[in-house]
Amino acid sequence: MNDSATLWWDTPTGCIRYVEQTLLPGEYRIVECRTVERLAEAIRRLEIRGAPALGVAGGYGVALAAATAKDGTYKRFMEEVERAAGVLRATRPTAINLGWGIDRVLSAVSRASDTVSAKEIALAEAEAIAREDTACCHAIGEHGARLLPDSCTVLTHCNAGALACSSWGTALGVIRSAVNAGKDVKVIACETRPLLQGARLTAWELVRDGIDVTVITDSTAAYLMRVGAIDAVIVGADRITRDAVFNKIGTYMHAVCAKYHGIPFYVAAPSSTFDPENIARDVTIEQRGREELSVMGNRTFIPPGAQVKNYAFDATPMELVSAVITERGVLYPPIDPGSVAAPKQRP
Ligand code: MRU
Repeated sequence: MNDSATLWWDTPTGCIRYVEQTLLPGEYRIVECRTVERLAEAIRRLEIRGAPALGVAGGYGVALAAATAKDGTYKRFMEEVERAAGVLRATRPTAINLGWGIDRVLSAVSRASDTVSAKEIALAEAEAIAREDTACCHAIGEHGARLLPDSCTVLTHCNAGALACSSWGTALGVIRSAVNAGKDVKVIACETRPLLQGARLTAWELVRDGIDVTVITDSTAAYLMRVGAIDAVIVGADRITRDAVFNKIGTYMHAVCAKYHGIPFYVAAPSSTFDPENIARDVTIEQRGREELSVMGNRTFIPPGAQVKNYAFDATPMELVSAVITERGVLYPPIDPGSVAAPKQRP
C-alpha cells in the first residue's frame, strides 16, 4: 500500500517540499517552498490541507523561518521567528493542529541559547512532529481496523487520508489497516462540496491503493444509509472540543443521518487534534470566499445579488459520535477529550 509522504524537509536544499493538492487528481506535482510567505499562501489555497498535515506544516514553517532568519542578535532572530509564526497561525483558524505544531517548535526554540542551536533545534522538533504523525496514523489504523466487520462498506467525507497527514491517514488509515488485515472494505467517498476533497483526493488515494471506492454527491449519503448500503461512517477531525467534533462541512449532516439509521459514526484523530480546554462555541469556523461556490471552470452559477455562505467546517455534537479512535486507543461514550490531549512540548 502507498505510504508516501505528503510534505517533508528537503535537507540538501534546506526547503519544504509538498504534494500540491489543488492539482490532483489531474497532476501530481511536488512543489518547493522556500519562504514563510509562500507556505502561508499554500495553506490558504489548500495546496497543503488536512489538520495533521497543517500541524506538520506549522512545525516546518517555524523551522523554515529559523533557517532563513537574517543574521543578527538572538533577540532579533526570535522576533523574526515569532513574526513568521504569527503569519502562519493566521492562515486558517479551525484546525487546532496548525497552532499546535507552530507552538511545539516555538517552545523548543525558546530553550536554545544562540541562533545556531535554535536553527538545529527547530528543524529537529519539526522532523519529530512529522515522524510522530506517521506513527500516530498507523496506531489509529490498528485500533480502528478492529472496529470494522470483516466485510463492510464505509462512508467517509472529505479527505482524511495520507494527503491530510504526514502519510497513511486517519480515517483512511483505519481503512488501509483493515484492508491490510485481510478485511474486505468498500468505501463510499462523499464528493465534499465545494472543493471536492472526497472526489479528487480520497478517491485518488484509494484507487492508487487498489481499494474499492465509489464517489457520491454529499446529498446521496442519507439515501444509501436508508437502503442499508452503509455499515459505518468514519471521518477525520480538525478539532475535538469537550462537546463537539469539528470537521469538514457536511459531517454533522452525516452524523445525524447515521444516528437515525443506527449506523456507527466513528471519528479518527490524533491527540494533537484535541482541544479539551474549549467548547464548541469558543471555536471560529472558517468561512471561505464566494467564488468557491459560484464559479466552476469558466461558468458562474450564482447570480450577482444572491448572497453566499461558505462555511468550511461544522461541529458535530459528541452525543452523535459512537467512538473516537486515537493513537492511544478508542474512546467510547461518555467521550472525555481531556483524557487524550497531546502535550505542547516534546513528550
Ligand atoms: O478544508 P480542509 O480540506 O483542510 O478540511 C480537511 C478536513 O476537514 C479533514 O477531514 C480533517 O482535517 C481531518 S484530516 C485527517
